[in-house]
Amino acid sequence: MSAAGRAIAITGANGGIGRHTALALARLGAHVVLVCRNQQRADEATAFVRDNAPNARASSLVADLSTLAGVRGLARDLSALGGLSVLVNNAGVICRRRAITDDGFELTWAVNHVAPFVLSTMLLETLGANAPARIVNVNSDSHLHGTIDFGDLNSEKGFWPPRAYERSKLANVLFTKELARRVDPARVTVNALHPGLVNTDFGEVGGIVEFGWRVYKHFGITPAEGARTSVYLATSPEVAAKSGGYYRKCVLGPVNPLAEDAQLATRLWDHTERSVRG
Ligand SMILES: NC(=O)c1ccc[n+]([C@@H]2O[C@H](COP(=O)([O-])OP(=O)(O)OC[C@H]3O[C@@H](n4cnc5c(N)ncnc54)[C@H](OP(=O)(O)O)[C@@H]3O)[C@@H](O)[C@H]2O)c1
Repeated sequence: MSAAGRAIAITGANGGIGRHTALALARLGAHVVLVCRNQQRADEATAFVRDNAPNARASSLVADLSTLAGVRGLARDLSALGGLSVLVNNAGVICRRRAITDDGFELTWAVNHVAPFVLSTMLLETLGANAPARIVNVNSDSHLHGTIDFGDLNSEKGFWPPRAYERSKLANVLFTKELARRVDPARVTVNALHPGLVNTDFGEVGGIVEFGWRVYKHFGITPAEGARTSVYLATSPEVAAKSGGYYRKCVLGPVNPLAEDAQLATRLWDHTERSVRG
C-alpha cells in the first residue's frame, strides 16, 4: 500500500518513536496527523516534521489518551477529518507510581490498553470506508512476561511498574489478535510490533524506573530506527491483508503463549467493553 496521499494518524507523535514515525510517513507522501497531548507539543512536532520534510502534509490533533472523553473526542475528530486509512496507536506509558484515572482505570492500563481499544473500535467504520485500511499497535516484547489477573487489573494488591506495563502490553496483543479475528482483513488489518530497545525519554518518569531506564536506554537504537517496523506495517505491500501478527524488525516474532488464547482474548474484550460503558 503506497503511503502517498493517505491520511495516517499517529498517537504519541510529539517525541521518541512516534515523532520519527510521523516524519518517515510524511516523507513517503502521507498526510500525517500528529496526535499529541497538548497544543504546544503538537505545534513543535508538526514544525519538526515540516522542517525535515519540506513538502510534508502534516496537521495535528490534541487529546489526552488517559481519559475516555479524550479518546472519544479524538475518534470523532479523526472521523471528521475524512479519508483516514491508517491508525498508528503509538502512545504509551510506564508509570512510577500507581495512579487512577478519572474513569477509574490504573493509568498504565488506561493509556496502553483501554485507549487503543476504544480509539480503534470507534474508528473501524471510518477506516473501513477508506479500505484497504490498517491499524498498527506499537507494543513491546515486555508483553512476553505479562499475565492477566482479572481480579486485579487496577493493581490494588500492589503496584510494580514493569508488571503493570507488561500486563497492559499483553492486553494490547490480545486485543490485536481478537480484533483481527473480528474484522475482514480485506477492509482493515491490525498488527502489533516491538520497535526494539529505543533510546527515547520513555522511562523518564522519576524514581527507580527512571534510574534503570537512563542506564538501559543507552544500549538502544535511535528513534528513527525504532520507527521502521511501524512504518513497514503502516505502508508495506508485503503485509497487505495480513492481520493479527506481532512483528519485530519487520518480520513476525514470537508472542507470549497467553496471547494465542482466543478464550482469554474474548474474555478481555468483553471485560474492556463493559468497563468503558458510560
Ligand atoms: N523506547 C523503547 O525502547 C520501547 C520499547 C518497546 C516499546 N515501546 C513503545 O513505543 C511507544 C512509544 O514510546 P517511546 O519510546 O517513543 O517513548 P516516548 O517518547 O515517551 O513516547 C510516548 C508518547 O506517548 C504519549 N503519551 C503518553 N501518555 C499520553 C496521554 N495520556 N495522552 C496522550 N499522549 C500520551 C507521550 O506524550 P507526552 O510526551 O506528552 O508524555 C509520547 O508522545 C510506546 O507505546 C512504548 O510502550 C518503546
